[in-house]
Amino acid sequence: MNTLVFQPTQETIIQAAQLLRQGELVAFPTETVYGLGACIFNHAAIKKIYDVKGRPQDNPLIAHISNLNQINSIAKDLPDSFHILAHALFPGPLTLVVPKTERVPDIVSGGTQTVAIRMPNHEVALALITATGEPLVAPSANLSGKPSPTTATDVLEDMNGKIAALIDGGTSTIGIESTVLDLTSEVPTILRPGAVTKPQIEALLSRTINESSVSVTEEAKAPGMKYRHYAPLAHIQLIESWEDMLPIPDSTDEGQFLLLSNIPRPSQVNIKEQLPLSMASIYQAFRYADRQGIRSIIIFLDQDTKNNAGLMNRIEKAALK
Ligand code: TXA
Ligand code: MG
Repeated sequence: MNTLVFQPTQETIIQAAQLLRQGELVAFPTETVYGLGACIFNHAAIKKIYDVKGRPQDNPLIAHISNLNQINSIAKDLPDSFHILAHALFPGPLTLVVPKTERVPDIVSGGTQTVAIRMPNHEVALALITATGEPLVAPSANLSGKPSPTTATDVLEDMNGKIAALIDGGTSTIGIESTVLDLTSEVPTILRPGAVTKPQIEALLSRTINESSVSVTEEAKAPGMKYRHYAPLAHIQLIESWEDMLPIPDSTDEGQFLLLSNIPRPSQVNIKEQLPLSMASIYQAFRYADRQGIRSIIIFLDQDTKNNAGLMNRIEKAALK
């Protein structure tokens, strides 16, 4: 299959929407990461998503909407908390898990009675969903286990020849996936941290909420949390001071190391290359390391990084290998 690469225009968005309605897969930009879209009511198309990504079938998909009117066909019994959060934070990097309607295929919900809903804050994504005329399910457009894609180049690296089309919308500004919040549990629970933070949600709901543990366990509620994710090929070492990285790589080795740190390295640290560490750049750094054949990534955890639940979650998962 020849993957068409579209620059976003009114015409190409209509063409992409037609492909989606014909049951094809189309990758598109969002503010978090690129998504791999399919029509939510098309079972065969959704099956292709799992095949192309190599994704376990019990890991459910997020329904992307462009308008709150699209919710009635997929979700029911919406709690007040849904309306409050949607009003304040949609469109944006927040996914809300609510009870699903009968119409949502089991293949979307991973066998649960819930559906995850998000309105992406990206004009190309919104225009594509509107042109298609129904919600789009869209996991991140990477092969399962690889870092999520934040540019069209990343998507092509994983998906070229496997999907009908890709809309190139430049670089995703946020850089990690949305915060996933379960509103069906007694206490709202963050299943995946992201750019929308726990304090932000608590302030809007005027109550405390839970955050499920960041460790990757079999019992985790978000079915996707039990799989290894976000992993570059390189070994990852986390350090909190320069002494932690002893023994210092010797000079014959230094090209094999990449340092991710917001603090300049002292001269005795023999690492050729240092890149900054942030939500917006972490997946780019992982993919860069893979392309360069870097053997080891050293990540310096400064205080701001440690305070950033979304970023720490991706770092810890990548380091799990
Ligand atoms: O930012 C994002 O959310 C991106 C962009 C493309 O929108 N999408 C994304 O999708 O990250 P994906 O499939 O890579 O991750 C979806 C996460 C998984 O951890 C999955 O288990 C969880 O959301 N999830 C989806 N539906 C769920 C449900 N009904 N109940 C609990 N967790 C759910
Ligand atoms: Mg993903």
